[in-house]
Amino acid sequence: MVVLISGAGSNMAALLEACSDPEYGAQIVAVGSDRAGTAGQKLAAEAGVPTFVVPFREYTDRSEWDRAMSDRIADHTPDLVVSAGFMRILGPAVVGRHPAVNIHPALLPSFPGARAVRDALAHGVRLTGTTIHFLDEGVDSGPIIAQMGVPVEDGDDEARLHERIKHVERRMLVDTVGRLARQGWTIEGRHVRFGRTEDSVTDATEKKENR
Ligand code: GAR
Repeated sequence: MVVLISGAGSNMAALLEACSDPEYGAQIVAVGSDRAGTAGQKLAAEAGVPTFVVPFREYTDRSEWDRAMSDRIADHTPDLVVSAGFMRILGPAVVGRHPAVNIHPALLPSFPGARAVRDALAHGVRLTGTTIHFLDEGVDSGPIIAQMGVPVEDGDDEARLHERIKHVERRMLVDTVGRLARQGWTIEGRHVRFGRTEDSVTDATEKKENR
C-alpha cells in the first residue's frame, strides 16, 4: 500500500508496526504527503520506507496537483492507497485510478470535512467515533468499511477527544487494512464486504471489485 499523510502520522506508524509481521499480509511501499517536513515523513524515512511529497502549494490548479499525486502513487504500483491523516481532498485522477480508503475522525455521514472533531463537539453529540471508508469523488462520502464509537465525556475539548478517537482509530485501521489485504473486498452499491466477489454480483460491482 501507499499511505498518504499530512502531519504526525501516528496511524501510519501503527500500520508500519503491523507490517513488520509477515503474517499481517500487507506492506507499505511508500508514504506520500502534500507538504514537506512532516513528522510522519521523517518517521517513515527512518524506518527505511520510500517517501514522496507533492506540495499542494506548488500547483496553481487542483486537478494538476491531483494528476501529479496520482502519478507519484502509481510509481509504487500499490494495490491500495490508505489516506491516514491526509488533509487534502483527492480528486478523480487519484480516486479513479487507485482503490483508496480513508480514515475519518467521526461517525460518517455525520461531520464530514476537515474539522470533524470540533464540529461533533460543537453539535453536542454524546457519541462520536471513527470511520474507514472507500474514497469516491465526494468529500468523506464513499462506501463505509468499518466504524467504532467513542463517547464524548464532560469537559472534553477538541484535543482530548481527538486523542481518544485516534487511540481507537489506530486499532481499527490496522485491523481493517489487514483484512482488506488478506481477504480482498467487494463493493455492492454502498455496501462493502470482505472477501472476493461471487458469481452473482452485477457488472458494476465487478468493475469495482479489486482482488
Ligand atoms: C486522524 O485522526 C485522522 O482520522 C484525521 O487526522 C488524524 C491524523 O492523525 N483525518 C482527517 O481528519 C481527515 N479528514 P495522525 O497523523 O496522527 O495519523
